[in-house]
Amino acid sequence: MTRQNTAQPAALVVPHGAPPPSPRPLRLGVLASGRGSNFEALVRASRHGALHGDVVGLVVNTPHCKALARAERLGVGATVMNHRHYHSREALDHALVNHFRILQVDVLVMAGWMRIVSPVLCQAYDKRLVNIHPSLLPAFQGLNAMERALAAGVRITGCTAHLVVPEVDAGPILIQAAVPAYPNDTLATLAPRIHAQEHRILPIAVAMAGQHLFEGA
Ligand code: GRF
Repeated sequence: MTRQNTAQPAALVVPHGAPPPSPRPLRLGVLASGRGSNFEALVRASRHGALHGDVVGLVVNTPHCKALARAERLGVGATVMNHRHYHSREALDHALVNHFRILQVDVLVMAGWMRIVSPVLCQAYDKRLVNIHPSLLPAFQGLNAMERALAAGVRITGCTAHLVVPEVDAGPILIQAAVPAYPNDTLATLAPRIHAQEHRILPIAVAMAGQHLFEGA
C-alpha cells in the first residue's frame, strides 16, 4: 500500500484560465519565514520562463532560516527584518513597504510568511499581495491547516493562492489545487503532496495578480 502515498496528478482549478504573459517582466518580492521552497519555486519558474518575471528580493523575519540559504544559493538578494526589532505590526509593514518600493516590486508574495499583516501592507499592495495556504480555503484557515485537515478526516484537501486582505486567509481566491488525503496519511505523507501543488499554482497566481497592474493599459 505504498502507491497511494506517491504524488498523484491533482485536480487543478484555474478560474479564468492561465493569464497571458504580462507586457513586461513582473518585479517580484517574496516574504518567507522558514523553508523557502515556494520562494525557490518562484525563482525557478521565472528563470525557466514559466513566469514572466524576476524575483528581485527576499525578506525573512527569522535569522538563519532555510529560505536565506536558498537565496544565497540562487543569487537572490535577501534581507532579514526580524519582527522582534519592530515595536508593532504596522512598523514592520512600513519597513517592508519602503524596502520593496525601493526595489520597485510589482507583486509581493507571502510564501510561508508566518506573520499577520496589517492594513499598511495590504493597502500598499492592494490586489498585488499574494499568499499561499496549505488547504482548500475557506476550510482550515489559520495555523496547522494540514494537521487539522487530517484530524477532520477529509478525503480531499489541497492548497490555495489568494489575494491578501487584513482578515487572515480570507482574501479573494486566485487559484486552488486539490489533492487526495488517504486514510493512512500522516503529515509526513500529505505535506509533500500539497507542497508539490503549491509550487505549481503559486507562479500562476502571481501572474494573475500581476494582471491588475496592466488593467486598462
Ligand atoms: C507552505 O505550506 C504554505 O502554504 C504555508 O507555509 C508553507 C511554506 O513552505 N503558508 P515553504 O517555506 O515555502 O517551503
